[in-house]
Amino acid sequence: MQLYQKWILLHQLTCNIDADFLENLDDFEIRDDDVFIITYPKSGTIWTQQILSLIYFEGHRNRTEDLSTLDRVPFFEYNIRKTDFLNRPSPRLFCSHLPYYLVPKGLKSKKAKIIYVYRNPKDVMTSYFHFSNLVVTLEAVNNMEHFMKRFLDGNVVGSRWFDHLRGWYEHRHDFSILFMMYEEMKKDLRSSVLKISHFLEKELSEEDVEAIVKQATFQNMKSDPKANYDEILKYEVGKRTDEGHFLRKGTVGDWKHHLSVEQNERFDKIFQRNMKNVPLKFIWDLNEE
Ligand code: A3P
Repeated sequence: MQLYQKWILLHQLTCNIDADFLENLDDFEIRDDDVFIITYPKSGTIWTQQILSLIYFEGHRNRTEDLSTLDRVPFFEYNIRKTDFLNRPSPRLFCSHLPYYLVPKGLKSKKAKIIYVYRNPKDVMTSYFHFSNLVVTLEAVNNMEHFMKRFLDGNVVGSRWFDHLRGWYEHRHDFSILFMMYEEMKKDLRSSVLKISHFLEKELSEEDVEAIVKQATFQNMKSDPKANYDEILKYEVGKRTDEGHFLRKGTVGDWKHHLSVEQNERFDKIFQRNMKNVPLKFIWDLNEE
């Protein structure tokens, strides 16, 4: 399949992809209580990993605070922190950037659950631009114009943002899937935690909800070495500079500081053309609501 090959190739060139594992994904046995977070990169993956793991580990009251978020919710397709991750006791929590056509067929049984998090693509692109200049596994970029072309053409890990979101949205009925929006999580973290726990049929006490919300704020995650990826980035992935963090700004509308008026108008036209008939809501700036 052409799309499949393009996806593998891009990822092999730029990051630590487990290509053999992907080749055999059809045989991968999904358990009924598996939970997957699926995102396009830079859309709030680590944030949702933190929320999800806190929901399952009752706000850290069973001593999971010693484990990094990535160990609690490992990446499915990357060769990072993967030791024996498939044989973990249930419920297994995973995160992934896979497009809908590459995930294990077993997910279509609709028993295992998927949380798909999306974010307005101008902020995704802005976050990705900074991230590409931060980590050694990604190709650095000179300026936003250069990166915008790459992003819109899909020559980045994750492939084309439009295809990723559209694909998952149009195939949503094949899966048990909850769509979450980064900006809504930002606006109301507590309601977002409740929405996710409700979808997972996990009842939480008021105390748990409070603990989760507190530990999933940007400030708390940024200062929590188990949740901020700083060490993993520095020692396992590799950083180009000591400045710059995985948890960079965590805001809505930062694109306004990085796109020119002309770039913004061009982006809007492409967005409208590509997102026709996708009735998902987008929030571009929290002040404009
Ligand atoms: P910015 O670069 O705009 O700051 P991912 O985990 O999918 O790669 O997404 C990373 C983006 O999510 C980064 O965006 C990061 O700061 C943001 N993020 C991570 N945790 C967050 C939180 N608790 N609240 C808000 N944004 C968060």
